Amino acid sequence: MMQVVSEPEALRQARAALSGRVGAVFTMGALHAGHISLVEAARAANDAVVATIFVNPLQFRAGEDFAAYPRDLARDLAMLEQVGVDLVFTPDAATMYPPGFQTSVHTRRVSRGLEGAQRPGHFRGVATVVAKLFNLTRPDAAYFGQKDAQQVVVIRRMVRDLDFPLDIVVCPTLREGSGLAMSSRNAYLSPQARAQAAVLYRALAAAQQAYADGERAAAALVQAAHGVLASESAGHIEYISVNDPATLRPIKWVHRPVLLSLAVRVEGVRLLDNTLLPPVLNTQAGLTAVLGAAQGAALPAATP
Ligand code: PAF
Repeated sequence: MMQVVSEPEALRQARAALSGRVGAVFTMGALHAGHISLVEAARAANDAVVATIFVNPLQFRAGEDFAAYPRDLARDLAMLEQVGVDLVFTPDAATMYPPGFQTSVHTRRVSRGLEGAQRPGHFRGVATVVAKLFNLTRPDAAYFGQKDAQQVVVIRRMVRDLDFPLDIVVCPTLREGSGLAMSSRNAYLSPQARAQAAVLYRALAAAQQAYADGERAAAALVQAAHGVLASESAGHIEYISVNDPATLRPIKWVHRPVLLSLAVRVEGVRLLDNTLLPPVLNTQAGLTAVLGAAQGAALPAATP
């Protein structure tokens, strides 16, 4: 029987009653198959699973979509119950940030580029809420999706820097039949824009093909993706970037695994996608070994 609590004290008691290894999946609700795949990964490797649903105001800037963010708690809870979650925490903003709240977690360099440049303050909000959720749910392992790759790097940096005693597991992006990465924000897209948005995946595939053909100049890999996006003139490109997957430093020549990521606005909706190169690393084992990894960490065997 799944337990649902919204107060920290009730959460502490319910968490204390869980035995064995506990996996956690943190969400902002509006759940889709991508979230469910995180829960399934947590289920497979732990004795119990805790999920959270909280649309975190701290990670939205003024003028962003906090108010419009899709919310359907009853549907989300039914999905979590069906996939075997043991405990769900659904706090409100006043519980998470009571009057007088004034502490935040800021990871400096890894928050600076990519999404951090487009959305100043976003990762401070993410790191702060995730630190609180780690303390509240006390998981042995927490599961995050590849699609928000920079978020993974920020959280892993924070976990190492602040000594959170848990493992981070990174699960591959789930895609619709068209290749479009699953995202709660896809709900904002009209049917036409949804079809257009699959161009992000085709752009990544073009970069993967260029890599497979032996291209190792980051600018040329970016150009391969850019060519597809420009030729289909499907949206406004915010960035296409090649970065070190551990530190997010920009890369010019690809000698080791890299993260190629892009952000494109389609019908005004910001969409993100990314791939590791070589693409064989886009698995739970590969992503977990590489994305936000401690520098010098061992890579998985298959890195052609
Ligand atoms: O990825 C998300 O949904 C959010 O950024 C997270 C990790 C739940 C923090 O609010």
